[in-house]
Amino acid sequence: MKEGIIQKIKDHQAVVGIVGLGYVGLPLMLRFTEVGFPVLGFDIDEVKVAKLNRGESYIGHIPSTAIAERREQEIVLEAGRKMVLFDATVDYSRAPEADVLILCVPTPLNRHREPDLSYVRSTVNSLLPHLRPGQMISLESTTYPGTTEEELRSRVEEAGFVVGKDIFLVYSPEREDPGNPIYNTRNIPKVCGGSTRECLEVGQALYGEVMDQIVPMSSTRAAELTKLLENIYRAVNIGLVNELKIVTDRMGIDIREVIDAAATKPFGFTPFYPGPGLGGHCIPIDPFYLTWKAREYGINTRFVELAGEVNTAMPHWVVGKVMDSLNEKGQSLKGARILVLGLAYKKNVDDPRESPAMEIMEILRNKGAVMSYSDPHVPVFPPMRKHKFDLQSVELTPEALKSLDCVLLATDHDDFPYDLIAAHAPLIVDTRGVYRNDEPNVVKA
Ligand SMILES: NC(=O)c1ccc[n+]([C@@H]2O[C@H](COP(=O)([O-])OP(=O)(O)OC[C@H]3O[C@@H](n4cnc5c(N)ncnc54)[C@H](O)[C@@H]3O)[C@@H](O)[C@H]2O)c1
Repeated sequence: MKEGIIQKIKDHQAVVGIVGLGYVGLPLMLRFTEVGFPVLGFDIDEVKVAKLNRGESYIGHIPSTAIAERREQEIVLEAGRKMVLFDATVDYSRAPEADVLILCVPTPLNRHREPDLSYVRSTVNSLLPHLRPGQMISLESTTYPGTTEEELRSRVEEAGFVVGKDIFLVYSPEREDPGNPIYNTRNIPKVCGGSTRECLEVGQALYGEVMDQIVPMSSTRAAELTKLLENIYRAVNIGLVNELKIVTDRMGIDIREVIDAAATKPFGFTPFYPGPGLGGHCIPIDPFYLTWKAREYGINTRFVELAGEVNTAMPHWVVGKVMDSLNEKGQSLKGARILVLGLAYKKNVDDPRESPAMEIMEILRNKGAVMSYSDPHVPVFPPMRKHKFDLQSVELTPEALKSLDCVLLATDHDDFPYDLIAAHAPLIVDTRGVYRNDEPNVVKA
């Protein structure tokens, strides 16, 4: 069986099923189809599936043309079977059509900040009745060490398959960096761990066809922890510079000047920059996957928890800076007209998940500020689990800027008119270090 699937992969005859057509699944689909693998995408969201099948993208940095092209191409597989290069479906009974199933479903935290594996579990439940011998399954969702073995392998074996013999199971974390102009799905090295040696061989064969470099690991657990280490490393270092920012603010020193100077050291220092708090689907969430699992082993991950504490306090610290800055001008926060510049969680993307900008808007509104926002990447305030604002992005004209009491720079998109903003906004609280020249109306935060 192993030889069969490896040969199919080498011949580009393997149908790749991608489960979860989101920020991770869609770029992966584009890469597999780029080299000629037909992709069958599965998602539970009927609206997304219909949109994709019309050849439309719903993610800003993925052009509709790329999806439409794949929808128009047809390929002929063994035995004359025809398939469009990319097809999306909500129907799991089509799973046997796929030779490979790659799982890219969400792994968020629940309201007690514990891992929420419900999406992974429900995906496995949906797939199990349709698995067939000879398939490979790869979990790409970020998760704690042990998930692949505990949640997938055990279930697949209970269903009567022998992992490593008739189903090949790997864990291979996604390392997507949306909007990065240099690193993409192809040239980011791909970490891969197998449930067995045979599983790893199949995993290497598959990813080796579409990625430039594979990093084989001794186990799925080691591969799972690798992804967590990468994100914990970022969370801890960002926590460190956020803490230092509070110190340097009191000392009257510009933290960014210090970081930039330290970064001239050609060895042993990697720069991280402070900000308004952590955002996105990964850095604010993933460290707590390890924290939770470590408790099972009787260990408290104090470093990770501390970084989380410092980082989650940042939106409140920024609000304090806004309040102090208004106070300096004899104004109160209550009733102040405040525009948040940049709603997405990081520059030049349209992804609003876990964005600290929203948290800050919520705190400011609760204190009586009149909120608005501007973000060309997020034209309408999206429906979010934790935040609700009935707002649309404001166009940045001189009149609009003059009518405000404060602009809070939360996300530094390249396409904001920073000179215009500086010329007309009465007060700017800058959390991203865009304004570096001691402009009189700018407060660094
Ligand atoms: N976004 C990133 O930059 C990034 C980077 C690295 C890793 N990750 C990880 O990848 C995983 C996916 O993240 P994402 O950003 O693509 O999420 P996403 O929310 O953009 O996409 C997930 C998709 O899965 C679908 N889905 C949910 N349950 C399903 C089910 N039972 N069956 C089929 N489809 C289902 C959702 O409808 C959605 O379209 C997460 O574990 C995340 O931590 C994300």
